[in-house]
Amino acid sequence: MTELLPASALARAAALLIQGKLVAFPTETVYGLGGDATNDKAVAAIFAAKQRPQFNPLIIHVPDPAAAEELAVFGGAAHELARKFWPGPLTLVLKRKPDCPVSLLAGAGLDTLALRVPAHPVAQRLLRECGLKLAAPSANRSGHVSPTTAAHVMAELGGLIDVVLDGGPCPIGIESTILDLSEEKPVLLRPGGTALEDLEKILGAISRPSPGGGIRAPGMMERHYAPSLPLRLNAASVAATEALIAFGPKPLPGAARTLSLSPTGDLAEAAARLFALLRELDRPGFSGIAVMPIPDKGLGLAINDRLARAARGR
Ligand code: TXA
Ligand code: MG
Repeated sequence: MTELLPASALARAAALLIQGKLVAFPTETVYGLGGDATNDKAVAAIFAAKQRPQFNPLIIHVPDPAAAEELAVFGGAAHELARKFWPGPLTLVLKRKPDCPVSLLAGAGLDTLALRVPAHPVAQRLLRECGLKLAAPSANRSGHVSPTTAAHVMAELGGLIDVVLDGGPCPIGIESTILDLSEEKPVLLRPGGTALEDLEKILGAISRPSPGGGIRAPGMMERHYAPSLPLRLNAASVAATEALIAFGPKPLPGAARTLSLSPTGDLAEAAARLFALLRELDRPGFSGIAVMPIPDKGLGLAINDRLARAARGR
């Protein structure tokens, strides 16, 4: 039995986390499946609930930069980014401190840790109330699209976890940007809710992930964000049997059903709606989903990354 709790019942969710139970909670990006990051059993239960084929390392969520610095080694760049972007949709990969109490399983045995300070008020209150570092991958089954509402989480993991804490729809709607600062040069492991351009203003040019290769985030498997229908990107026309994900003021005519990421061409709105639209259109009855082109800048980089993964390998 999975309890669906309103945010007002946060104290109960925190108490269950302290007992080693699993709680899905809202962040500004997507819902996370949280468990005590220092408790091996809780961490193992996260992998089991997600049915992950292998132990991908998990992002560790903490309430503030000071809590992050207890766990990992911060250099100058990490300090500056933490000051500018935390709390917010940026995950930093840094070297673990020797005495770091986070479960080795959560870090998949790596000598690095992915750290994030979420900005969502419910996530903030939950972290403070339970006083734990929370290991939290996106609260979906492995290979599925990330959940951006409590109902999505119930559909994915209902019956497999203890609690879903409902904080409404996630305002950003796409996962955090992951930046690896553990080596000499910063490497973008995953484009996400923090625009690459904003990070480059501070760090200078950051190498972008080459399509399909050279990705250091072990979880960034080729096909990761996967609806069951085939996805056709950069569509210039659409078949009468296809569903259409439109973008901008002129949706392509003729689709069986059309939903728009953003009629005004706003990339932030498009990111927030992406996963919900994919879920909505991923139904038998359509031959596939066609997607109109999205500009490859700002949050568009993260949107196109998720779409490319969802479309690949068919
Ligand atoms: O927005 C987000 O980041 C959401 C919310 C819940 O915070 N979380 C999320 O977690 O997207 P997840 O597990 O779905 O994706 C985490 C990614 C994986 O691709 C994983 O391989 C990578 O982070 N990762 C975690 N630890 C890492 C490490 N030490 N080095 C490299 N990549 C790491
Ligand atoms: Mg995920």
